[in-house]
Amino acid sequence: MKQVVIKSGGAQVVEVPAPSIDKKSILVSVDYSCISAGTEMKSVQLSGMPLYKRALKQPENVKKVIQSLKDTGFQATLSKVRGKLEFGSPSGYSAAGRVIDVGSDVQDFQIGDRVACAGAGIANHAEIICVPALLTVKIPKNLDCLRASTVTLGAIALQGVRRFNPTLGETVVVLGLGILGILTLQLLKANGCRVVAIDLNPKRLEMARQLGADLLINPLEGDYENKVRQFTQDQGADGVIITAASTSSDLIHQSALATRRKGRIVLVGDVGLNLRREDFYQKEIDFLISCSYGPGRYDPYYELEGQDYPFPYVRWTENRNMQAYLQLMDQQKIQLPTDCIYEIDDISKAYAALNAGEDSPLSTFVSYSRSDQDRLEKVIPLRAHDLSESAFKVSGDIQIGIVGASSFVQSVHLPNLKQIKNCHIRAVMSRTGTAASALGQQYQSAYVTTDYEELLADDTINLILISTRHNQHGNQVLRALQAGKHVFVEKPLAVTTQELDKIRHFYQAQKTKNLPLLMTGFNRRFSPIMTKLKKEIEKHQTPLIINYQMNAGFISKDHWIQGSEGAGRNIGEACHIYDLFSFLIDSPVISVTAKSIHPQSSQWLANDNFVATIQYENGSLATLLYTSQGSKACSKERLDLYVDGCVYTMDDYKTLDRYEEKKVSLFSSSSIDKGHREEINSFISYLKNQDAQRKIPISLEDQVSVTQISLKVEEQLR
Ligand SMILES: NC(=O)c1ccc[n+]([C@@H]2O[C@H](COP(=O)([O-])OP(=O)(O)OC[C@H]3O[C@@H](n4cnc5c(N)ncnc54)[C@H](O)[C@@H]3O)[C@@H](O)[C@H]2O)c1
Repeated sequence: MKQVVIKSGGAQVVEVPAPSIDKKSILVSVDYSCISAGTEMKSVQLSGMPLYKRALKQPENVKKVIQSLKDTGFQATLSKVRGKLEFGSPSGYSAAGRVIDVGSDVQDFQIGDRVACAGAGIANHAEIICVPALLTVKIPKNLDCLRASTVTLGAIALQGVRRFNPTLGETVVVLGLGILGILTLQLLKANGCRVVAIDLNPKRLEMARQLGADLLINPLEGDYENKVRQFTQDQGADGVIITAASTSSDLIHQSALATRRKGRIVLVGDVGLNLRREDFYQKEIDFLISCSYGPGRYDPYYELEGQDYPFPYVRWTENRNMQAYLQLMDQQKIQLPTDCIYEIDDISKAYAALNAGEDSPLSTFVSYSRSDQDRLEKVIPLRAHDLSESAFKVSGDIQIGIVGASSFVQSVHLPNLKQIKNCHIRAVMSRTGTAASALGQQYQSAYVTTDYEELLADDTINLILISTRHNQHGNQVLRALQAGKHVFVEKPLAVTTQELDKIRHFYQAQKTKNLPLLMTGFNRRFSPIMTKLKKEIEKHQTPLIINYQMNAGFISKDHWIQGSEGAGRNIGEACHIYDLFSFLIDSPVISVTAKSIHPQSSQWLANDNFVATIQYENGSLATLLYTSQGSKACSKERLDLYVDGCVYTMDDYKTLDRYEEKKVSLFSSSSIDKGHREEINSFISYLKNQDAQRKIPISLEDQVSVTQISLKVEEQLR
């Protein structure tokens, strides 16, 4: 399908695989999308700036890069940043079209319904979009798709007005008459307010006049504070809704001057925010921020899981704002020009028109005219002679299908795989076409797709590497094994006993010896420090006593890792350490016990802070202390191992010391190597040269037993 991406100071149309449906979403074939001028033009400008300038403008991204440098090192971070920049980023977040498929958990929509959709990264300028149900509303019968495609902008303006909480007869200044300002003006008029419309652009002021603005002011024609005062019997306006886009903080200052004592200012637009105390102090003005489309925004339980807020308690959610806006449009209470429409192939003309200063259109639309059939392609070849290429079937070569374009696979596995001889990235599959395409292009895969079945049906692929959300692992592993592919799955192997049992049964039920191999990404055992430790204790006489502390850091309850997709931190992360215990102790497990703390505060879940104790048949004992209530100033991972009159201590995979008669340093490094490279190397090397003498890097028994430990710990914590 075609999709718009913003890159290098402009917009481009790229061909990417159409998204697949998921059970909580609907698939929409888009008829129109509306450009959010202020936001999208800012992204275009940013994408054309040199990196250092962008960093200054987006310090939040710099923090992410610094964290990535710490976690994954320079090369991996560089490759991730480069990949993102080279492909570009999707744009658009307001669209309308027809439902062409409905997820199994969605109740209120049917194929053929006309719908309007919201969401950055979701309701993109793209031919097909996959939208969660609560970001979708049905379009009233008499309202056309074109106007309905402004739904997100309408909900943003409506949320700004709700934050202002206008009462009949109040005087409100709307500062900035772009599409958001023009919508805000009309919503305020519908609320019985007097509206002062302010903009630098005379054409926008004329439009405001036609839509019923009571006073028009162009700040270029003199200080507007006095004009507002004269209009309000020297009181000042009841407040200002700022819908301008400007880096200057003067807009806030001027708004405060124009506002009456105890009035309010609502910020919708993106303006400079150096607030002056004296502007707000004496008049005791309230300053309010309006966040996007309303309650529910940025709450994954609401938006992605579909958990609506109860109507009587949260009357106006983002979805109900979207509905209310479409109703007002349907009742002709909102007008917008609809004559500026560009076919998707002309997207650069659309953005150029928005750059035309005073003459730039207020509302600009993208149209999509190809047939649904042409749009729905789920496999996009990236290289010539693809898909049936036989040269790839060279014996001994590893042809990999990547499942899930996760940032982990991008920054850790792919740079490592790139270094391995005769190892090719055959295909990248991801939920969204742009993510798959960006990664596929960077690593020159033969094709990209959003359909897992395509990888399973591809005879050339002999290894599937899975790095999706945790609740998908078990099922994806099983299907790949059934399709005869070797599997490398990022931990965890499975999040339920049922999933694990199905994988076990797959191996038990097969008569042939020539079965595909499975390896779970438990990397700690491959780190140089643990390889060293294992060698040290190889001939131990006494049982081992191990105490491992994981000072894991806080992750909020809203993060996907904590919800049903991630299954929590014990199953999702602590499993690494259970595997390390299995590696060091190398004996069957005989019991597992676990207890968590009971904090007063509800910010922690039971599986955020706990101690798990595992007892082994050879008499060894291991405890994991896992906590998210520690401090980052202290090491993240530490191990103490007691055996044969010695103590071994490991600190953050940087140092390993042995204490016997005195302390001896066994390993010391300034960088952290947790074994990711060696883990993938040893699995690939095993796949290439399997023989009876060599053992698979992690036995199936270990992978199953470690997963069982996680599941038992989880049972006890809950
Ligand atoms: N709060 C949110 O959730 C949210 C969502 C979308 C967009 N926005 C922001 O809202 C703003 C408006 O978006 P838009 O699409 O309507 O933008 P736009 O660029 O189309 O319109 C902005 C208008 O402000 C006017 N303006 C700029 N400086 C001014 C000044 N000093 N005095 C008076 N008028 C001035 C411009 O002439 C223009 O008409 C942008 O900053 C955008 O990033 C916020």
